[in-house]
Amino acid sequence: MTDVVDPSSFAPRLTTTDLAGTVPDLLAAPPVRWGVLGAGDIAASFSAGVRERTASSVVAVGSRDLARAEAFTRAHAPGARTHGSYADLVADDEVDVVYVATPHSHHLEHALLAIRAGKHVLVEKPLTRSAREAAVVVEAARAAGVFCMEAMWTRFLPHVAALRSVIARGEIGEVVTVAADFDVLFAYDPEHRLFAPELAGGALLDLGVYPVAFAHDLLGAPSSITAAGTRAATGVDDHVAMILRYDSGAHAVLRTSSRSPGAAAATITGTRGRIEIPRQFLTPTGFRVVRADGSTAAFESPAGEGKAYEAAEVARRVAAGHVQSPRMTWQDTLEVMAILDEARRQVGVVYPGE
Ligand SMILES: NC(=O)c1ccc[n+]([C@@H]2O[C@H](COP(=O)([O-])OP(=O)(O)OC[C@H]3O[C@@H](n4cnc5c(N)ncnc54)[C@H](OP(=O)(O)O)[C@@H]3O)[C@@H](O)[C@H]2O)c1
Repeated sequence: MTDVVDPSSFAPRLTTTDLAGTVPDLLAAPPVRWGVLGAGDIAASFSAGVRERTASSVVAVGSRDLARAEAFTRAHAPGARTHGSYADLVADDEVDVVYVATPHSHHLEHALLAIRAGKHVLVEKPLTRSAREAAVVVEAARAAGVFCMEAMWTRFLPHVAALRSVIARGEIGEVVTVAADFDVLFAYDPEHRLFAPELAGGALLDLGVYPVAFAHDLLGAPSSITAAGTRAATGVDDHVAMILRYDSGAHAVLRTSSRSPGAAAATITGTRGRIEIPRQFLTPTGFRVVRADGSTAAFESPAGEGKAYEAAEVARRVAAGHVQSPRMTWQDTLEVMAILDEARRQVGVVYPGE
């Protein structure tokens, strides 16, 4: 993959040359040896992304149950070593980076397990249940001198690199509004991670983290947050709207829900135009630029498993000896978590043991 930008997808004012360098070459990232902690659904797609699109490999898989690690390895990481406990996985000398793919409730414990074993770590989103817990992980990574990042994969996708370049070049003027939603219809099941308080369920942490992190990427930390929402029978939030206000006068209008099917659309409105993402803004997708003079341009992401982009970023940073990525810093995570904390407080959701 040397050129992931399709020249034919651009109108005259938005050219491949203009975007050259904004979309990194996946295979140019150096190889690292991944250890997968938790053999669940997202670990499978992450492993596919690493295997199919990067120079790195999943060399070990750890599960609470050795048979599950073996089944996962056969299906998604052929040739990887298997471990019947997370402790054995993080002690594996041939693992460079641990990918924590367990429920939110366990990210703190499992990230600390890996960090204290001296491993670099990529932790599924959200980094932890709260900003307070996130700070504990950050301090542990800082003290150990290891790389640590929340797996906010959207930030590393080609269309996000491309739209940030469009904005940086002033194509839509000053950004004044970011609107984004992520609604997914889940059948109500009190034991599913979306609804179980003991797994830190709820739409906000599971789904809402995406529109919040997207707005934060473009506008930074807000000056105030207003949230309204409803709770499922288990007590976790299932339908939330948020307005974030910024000192500049900009605002973000964000929604998330686990009880309605949405398009996951996003619109970034500026003083001279807008960028429309009609569907799945958080995954590899396309967007349209509509300028105030009526002219338009379009971008479409290349096909393929999008988790590969965050994996390649981790590989680049680890090889360079960095402990953070500039595209998803510790401060970014702490600020996103603080927004989620405040929205959750206003909706009245408290997790067991918080
Ligand atoms: N980036 C994305 O697009 C995306 C999409 C979906 C989910 N996620 C995130 O990925 C994480 C995992 O989600 P998932 O959909 O992969 O969940 P999942 O299929 O339920 O897998 C989670 C895994 O965590 C391990 N685990 C450890 N303690 C557990 C416990 N008490 N209960 C249940 N599982 C436990 C299990 O692995 P073992 O049994 O092998 O130990 C389980 O297979 C969450 O943070 C979620 O927000 C990210």
